[in-house]
Amino acid sequence: MTESTTIVIFGASGDLTNRKLIPALLNLFDRGRLPEHIRIVGSSRHPYNDDDFRQLLRNSAAAHVSAALLDRRWEEFAAHLFYSAGSLMEPDDFGKLNRRLVKLEEGPANRLYYLAVAPELYTEAIKNLAAAEMNREQDGWRRIVIEKPFGTDLESAKVLNQAVHAVFDEKQVYRIDHYLGKETAQNILFFRFANTIFEPVWNRRYVDHVQITVSETVDVGHRAEYYDQSGVIRDMFQNHLLQLLSLVAMEAPASFEADAVRNEKAKVLSAIRPIRLEDTVRAQYAGYRQAAGVAPESQTPTYAALKLYIDNWRWQGVPFYLQSGKTLQAKSSEIIIHFQKPPHVMFNLPPNQEFTSNTLAMCIQPDEGVHLTFQVKVPGSAQAMHPMDMEFHYRSGFEGLVLPDAYERLLLDALNGDASLFARSDEIELAWRLVDPVITGWNTAGAPPLTSYEPGSWGPDEAAAFLARDGRRWWHACSDH
Ligand code: BG6
Repeated sequence: MTESTTIVIFGASGDLTNRKLIPALLNLFDRGRLPEHIRIVGSSRHPYNDDDFRQLLRNSAAAHVSAALLDRRWEEFAAHLFYSAGSLMEPDDFGKLNRRLVKLEEGPANRLYYLAVAPELYTEAIKNLAAAEMNREQDGWRRIVIEKPFGTDLESAKVLNQAVHAVFDEKQVYRIDHYLGKETAQNILFFRFANTIFEPVWNRRYVDHVQITVSETVDVGHRAEYYDQSGVIRDMFQNHLLQLLSLVAMEAPASFEADAVRNEKAKVLSAIRPIRLEDTVRAQYAGYRQAAGVAPESQTPTYAALKLYIDNWRWQGVPFYLQSGKTLQAKSSEIIIHFQKPPHVMFNLPPNQEFTSNTLAMCIQPDEGVHLTFQVKVPGSAQAMHPMDMEFHYRSGFEGLVLPDAYERLLLDALNGDASLFARSDEIELAWRLVDPVITGWNTAGAPPLTSYEPGSWGPDEAAAFLARDGRRWWHACSDH
């Protein structure tokens, strides 16, 4: 890329800019992946000048990148950083920002606008960008990156999509789901579609059920106020878990083009059967209500488990169990495909030995890799068998290679115009259509009760009972290793 490009970050004094965007841009800069003529212009209401902004970012970057990288490249990188103060609510401030950009650009340039601001401000910001004609592609492309949450329910997501489409064409819009930028999430597609041995068994004839677990050890921390309004379904399921599910369950697209991939994901999402309330579990960790910003009687779940069915030829009758929660025993994002038992087991198992069928675990994080379990005969025994693991770990398979942060990949893709790893408007709406009835249903009589779980546990007892009812249990294949 040699074209002149400007990245404009709205919300430049915020947490996301400090923690994710600037470290990702610095790493990309260091590896020579950013366009040669790049400007990164921050904007927020704080009255900084360019130098203040550079200093602030340097201070915050110190917590997220190595001291060696900072020493080696910061000064050079900082020369590309600029700041323009302004309010998202003030059309005039957009005019002022635009004039500053034009001056900095000194000619035709592409622009990537990044909305790293509170979601309530999205619509106004988009409207004001258009009022200042900053969406017009007369001398370079214009793209907009929008962070989650994209709406708080189906209705608000539709309104937001309409506001976006009034100003930008869908091909200019990049809705971030950072889970799609994780190397191992992308590897699901490579694993499935760059190999021949797994796809023939990736269906209802061989798969018994699928588990997707995204467990976190952290509590809601300083985000309690947002979280209490949101809860685990909006925060994790509507986006990350359903995106992972669609990668696991989609049909093979004909190409890796953005729309080919997104068409298949949308098809899977539209084939998911409405979720019954009895197929849900909701719970809150003990102590949550004491966090500052949380309502004293809060009913917000910090843990949920759902059972989903996909009504299509590939997956008919195969349950997908999804769970996610805060303050759980280990941080782990994993997808486990449980294959069916052999139709007949001719070996006499010793008493008390449970027959475990094959499992394939895709470990998204933190110990990224893939595990395949199969039965082996215990040497010296007559008929005893033991499940063994065939493992691939990124850390040993690609020794010395540091997995790039999801934001690095996503920022680069947005700059390159590749939207395959970004959610399209229909995917977003389909996901809301699915989870909305769960969120509203939980406020009605007949909903499963909100239960409690101890921080450091694997969630509420009801979660285990939920699977036990189907003769199954939760697996932690990645975090157990
Ligand atoms: C965010 C959620 O989207 O994802 C957070 O808002 C959550 O609540 C985070 O902690 C998890 O991301 P990761 O990359 O740490 O698994």
